[in-house]
Amino acid sequence: MATALITGASSGIGMEMARILARRGTDLVLAARREEILQNLKAELERQNGVQVRVLAVDLADRAAVDGVFPSLRADGVAVDYLINNAGFGTHGFFQETDLERLQAMIDVNITALTRLTRQALPGMLQRGRGRILNVASSIAFQPAALMSVYAATKAYVLHFSEALAVELKGTGIKVTALCPGPTASAFFTVADMDDAFLVKLFKPAAVRGVAEYGLAAMMAGRPVAIHGRFNRLMAFGVRFAPRRFVAWLAYRLMKG
Ligand SMILES: NC(=O)c1ccc[n+]([C@@H]2O[C@H](COP(=O)([O-])OP(=O)(O)OC[C@H]3O[C@@H](n4cnc5c(N)ncnc54)[C@H](OP(=O)(O)O)[C@@H]3O)[C@@H](O)[C@H]2O)c1
Repeated sequence: MATALITGASSGIGMEMARILARRGTDLVLAARREEILQNLKAELERQNGVQVRVLAVDLADRAAVDGVFPSLRADGVAVDYLINNAGFGTHGFFQETDLERLQAMIDVNITALTRLTRQALPGMLQRGRGRILNVASSIAFQPAALMSVYAATKAYVLHFSEALAVELKGTGIKVTALCPGPTASAFFTVADMDDAFLVKLFKPAAVRGVAEYGLAAMMAGRPVAIHGRFNRLMAFGVRFAPRRFVAWLAYRLMKG
């Protein structure tokens, strides 16, 4: 039976991916900070699906905690077949007015933890000659975005890193996918304190279920990049040809309250 490690499984897209994979009979390792939510999810998924679920209460902004994840799984004899780097959050507003420690934590979770977990997962996957890595980027990864400058840049990192790694791993049996959701109905916008942003009012956010299913299908198929939604795919294509200053300005208009 395959085992998936999902970060950010206590909410939104990650929680939905956990439910879908459990229904398919996949054992799970659920990681996030809110342990009680993860314990309740574990009880629900084990009862309904007969799978084995482990809970890792971990703050992914803490490098030592991140580096403890794979050693602790190895000690329990758990091999990770699917690594789903989904945990992440955004901040909204002017860079110079945003708390520096929050910005650093965002870089630590969105970039550093994802990179270090991927690096820890690979030796085992390479040894077994198979594996899947799903890195959750964003449709914002394709452009500079004023008022979400650092968040957009972290997701550009996730996208570029994943695409490059997918090429390096060709022929190894390991596939890497960058999932790029557009606005999605999760706790994301509340956490980013941007429920009143024009963008959120303008677009009806996609349901987490559809995004999670789409991402998992892309991961299984080994697609390097998966942009959810026709409009988001069109935008990702279109911004390649638009002047970058215009794109950054357009994001500013959309992100404004
Ligand atoms: N929703 C959107 O519109 C959207 C669009 C594009 C991309 N995304 C990306 O999709 C991913 C999932 O977000 P979501 O929409 O499902 O948002 P969400 O409902 O807010 O879920 C975020 C998850 O990340 C976890 N997380 C945040 N900080 C963490 C930390 N320091 N340590 C461990 N876990 C942490 C949270 O768990 P705890 O709080 O329990 O730690 C939670 O489970 C993120 O990478 C996000 O950037 C979202």
